[in-house]
Amino acid sequence: MPTDHSAPGALRIARTRGTMRTSDDMTARRVDHRAVRAQHPEGVLRAVYDYAALDSAQTCGIRYDGRALDARVGEPLALSLLANGIDTLSRSVKFHRPRGPMCLRGNCEGCLTRVDDDPNTMACVARAHDGREIRSQNAFPSAELDVLRITDWFFPKSFDHHHLMVRYGPAINQVMQSFARKMAGLGTLPTRASEPMAPLAMDCDVLVVGLGPAGLALAAQCAQAGLKVVAVDEEPDVGGFLRDSLQWHTHEGARVCAPAWCDLQLAKLRALGVSVRLGAAACATFDDGTLVITGERALWVRARARVFANGSHESVGNFENNDLPGIYTERAVARALRQGVRVGATVLLTGGSDETDALALALSHTDATVHRVQPGETLRGAKGMGDVSGAVLVGPKGERTVSCDAIGAENVRTPAFELAGQAGVEPRASLTRRCFVAHSHEAGRTERRDVFVVGSVRSEGDTREPDWDATVSASVIALCKETAAQTGASR
Ligand code: FES
Repeated sequence: MPTDHSAPGALRIARTRGTMRTSDDMTARRVDHRAVRAQHPEGVLRAVYDYAALDSAQTCGIRYDGRALDARVGEPLALSLLANGIDTLSRSVKFHRPRGPMCLRGNCEGCLTRVDDDPNTMACVARAHDGREIRSQNAFPSAELDVLRITDWFFPKSFDHHHLMVRYGPAINQVMQSFARKMAGLGTLPTRASEPMAPLAMDCDVLVVGLGPAGLALAAQCAQAGLKVVAVDEEPDVGGFLRDSLQWHTHEGARVCAPAWCDLQLAKLRALGVSVRLGAAACATFDDGTLVITGERALWVRARARVFANGSHESVGNFENNDLPGIYTERAVARALRQGVRVGATVLLTGGSDETDALALALSHTDATVHRVQPGETLRGAKGMGDVSGAVLVGPKGERTVSCDAIGAENVRTPAFELAGQAGVEPRASLTRRCFVAHSHEAGRTERRDVFVVGSVRSEGDTREPDWDATVSASVIALCKETAAQTGASR
C-alpha cells in the first residue's frame, strides 16, 4: 500500500501515541490570530478574527480532572480542552472506546463530561469562565487512560450483554448482571437536586424555532407583517450552519464575514420587535403549546402558528474507526477555526464543496498542512489507537494512506424531524436516504390538516411544490434548509 507521508518539514508537531499531546501541540492548537491578520489581510479569516475581537479576549483558569488549564472566557469548554491538547473527553458506554468532540454543536455526545457537579454536560455547549471544574465520567481512572477499554479488546466482535453468561447458570448470571448494572449508565447524580422551575407563559402569533437563514428570514417577514413573533434557537448565536461559513457574504452591497452577516440579521429582528431567545431549546411541542428550556428557566410558548426551521442533524458518515477522537464534521473544523482553535496540524478534508475549498484555504493561513481527497476517492477508514494518526483513502488508482492528526469529514446531514413528529406527523424511515423523514403525501400536506412539511424533511416521493397559499393557514410548518431561498433568505 503506497503511503503519502507529508514532507518531514511540513509536520510541525510530533505525533504522540496517546491522547495527550506535546506542549508544542498545545500552543500550536491556538491559532496565532495576529500572524493570520498580518500575513493575510485579504483573507476572510482575518475578517472573522477582527469581528470576534480575539485581541481583547480575556483568559481564565479552568480545571480538567484536577489539572489547571488556561482558557478564553466565553469559549466552549471543548475548545478550551482541545486548545490544551486534550481531545479524548469521554468513553463509549459499552466498550469504553475513546470519544472526543465531533460536531462542536451539541449533536453527537462525544464531549459529555461532568461540569461543576452537573453530569452529562456537553462541553461544546458549556462556556469557559474562571474556576470551572470539568471531570471525565464513566472511565477509570480518566477518559484519557481508561482501563475499562479492555472490554473493547476482549470482545472484538461485540457481545450481547443481555444474554452473556446465561448459559453458566443463574448464580454467574446474577453476578454478571450486578456488575453490568454498576458499569452501565452515564455519570452519577449531582450532589444537590436542582430547584423546580416554574415555566413562564408567553403568548404570540408565531413561534419560530431555529434561527438559521430560513428561520431568520421567516421571523423578519412575519414581524414586518405586523405579527407578534417569538424566535428561539438553542445556540448562543444566530445563523445555524451559515455562521461557520468561511466565505464572504454580502449585506447591502458590502462584503462581510458570515458571523457579521448573521448578527446583522439578528439586529434587524430585534429592531422589528421580535422577541429573540438564544441558548433556548424547544424540546417538546404539544397541541396547546411548546416547551422551551433556556439556561435559567422554562418557557411555555402558546402560538397561533409554529414554524420549525430547526434544520438537520449532522454526522461524519460511515467509515472504519469513525468514532476516534480527532474526527470532526467539516463544519466543526470551521467552527473551531473561527473561534481561534485549529483542530490539528495536519488535517485531511474529505468534502468537495465551495465551503471545503474556503476551509482549506483558511486552514492553510494558520500554517496547517491540509490534505484533500482526490476526484473519485473516498475515505475508507481512520487509523489510530487512542486518536487519529492517519486515514485510508481508496480511489481509481488504488488505496493510499495519509498521515494526519485530524480529519474534517464531509458533513452528512439528516433532517431534524422530531418536532414535526411531536406535532403529529408520522416519522418514516427513508431507506434510500438512510434517515427518518416526516411523512407527507403531496405538496407538503400530512395526515394532520394543519401541519405542513417542506424541504428535505418531507418524504422523497412527495416532489410537488409546496402549496404556499395553503401553508399560510397552517398551525405548524416544519421546513428544512434548502427552502431558505423560497422564504426570502439570501446571503
Ligand atoms: S455534542 Fe459536543 S462535540 Fe458533539
